Amino acid sequence: MNQQTIAQAIKNIIDPVTKLPLIESKTLLDIVVSDDRVELSFAFERQNTPEFAAFQKYLLKVLKIELGIKSVKIHYAQPQQAPNATASKQPQHLLFSGPQQARYIAVASGKGGVGKSTVTVELAKALVLLGKKVAIVDADVYGASIAKIFNIHNDGVTIHEGKILPPKAHDIAVIGIDLLNEGNTPILWRGPMLGKLINQFFTDVAWEQDIDFMLIDLPPGTGDVPMAIQQVLPQSEMLLVTTPQHDAAHVAVRAGLAAVDMGHPLLGVIENMAYYQCNDCAKPQYIFGRDGGMTVATALSVPILAQIPLQNEKSNLTAHFLDLAKIIINA
Ligand SMILES: Nc1ncnc2c1ncn2[C@@H]1O[C@H](COP(=O)(O)OP(=O)(O)OP(=O)(O)O)[C@@H](O)[C@H]1O
Ligand SMILES: [Mg+2]
Repeated sequence: MNQQTIAQAIKNIIDPVTKLPLIESKTLLDIVVSDDRVELSFAFERQNTPEFAAFQKYLLKVLKIELGIKSVKIHYAQPQQAPNATASKQPQHLLFSGPQQARYIAVASGKGGVGKSTVTVELAKALVLLGKKVAIVDADVYGASIAKIFNIHNDGVTIHEGKILPPKAHDIAVIGIDLLNEGNTPILWRGPMLGKLINQFFTDVAWEQDIDFMLIDLPPGTGDVPMAIQQVLPQSEMLLVTTPQHDAAHVAVRAGLAAVDMGHPLLGVIENMAYYQCNDCAKPQYIFGRDGGMTVATALSVPILAQIPLQNEKSNLTAHFLDLAKIIINA
């Protein structure tokens, strides 16, 4: 009997306070196992309600009858330690299996197609080249693309002790909806379902705990996914990608303001497709204009961290991300 077995057995029991399954409610703070005794600690106070009584009864049934644990002790919060009063920015609930020491950096944009996924992948590769341990969560549940870029498939995904072992490419561990799902079923995630899915990336995946950077590729815009990320990873930092075009920059400012509004530190702006350097040209060509990155950076009072050229066939895009990776490591 270990923590993990117990957590798995009780994860779907509904928390009487938040009315969410324990796996989502983040109120199960600790499980201590010693010999045939188990102690559980919850973030909420004991209550005198029928729901609470039913919760405790069901919990004890699973632990004592289904798992055969002889002695179970349950600790509830003292009145002065209500969950809201103790809520911290770290995801400290026990079922969270994301690496605790990693920096979580979400890559956002206003508009689609500006290069978020490319930036996520190339930044990850550059961080690996600089000796960091990196993982990518493809949170673009409507148009997952990281696995495709890396050419990895869900038949390479294995399960160990009830958790998903994320496949790796270039030493980068990757998870995404297309690595969980069979085939190409269309996805219509909304609200709670979406939150549950994003949560699953951090509760049901066996992440190595010494990962330094978890990069999160977001879908474009300010929709449900950034909100779900905020719930699961309130501490995540944010990078904003734009192209030099006015329309991309305009909506990037909106996405940046939304991120700041949700309390995410905005590290800065990456201007992608900033220029084109043809082999025989003396000067770069600014095909999409020159102002986008600066417009966004000025509007949000953050720096432009990188200007990435339009890749011509022979150029190695990763080399353009090394300086950015160094800045991020030191940020
Ligand atoms: N610097 C670049 N040079 C050349 N092509 C690029 C560059 N950045 C991105 N691309 C290409 O542009 C397309 C869109 O890029 P990408 O998929 O990374 O954007 P995205 O913002 O993640 O898009 P979506 O909003 O659909 O998720 C891809 O075909 C990608 O290979
Ligand atoms: Mg993308």
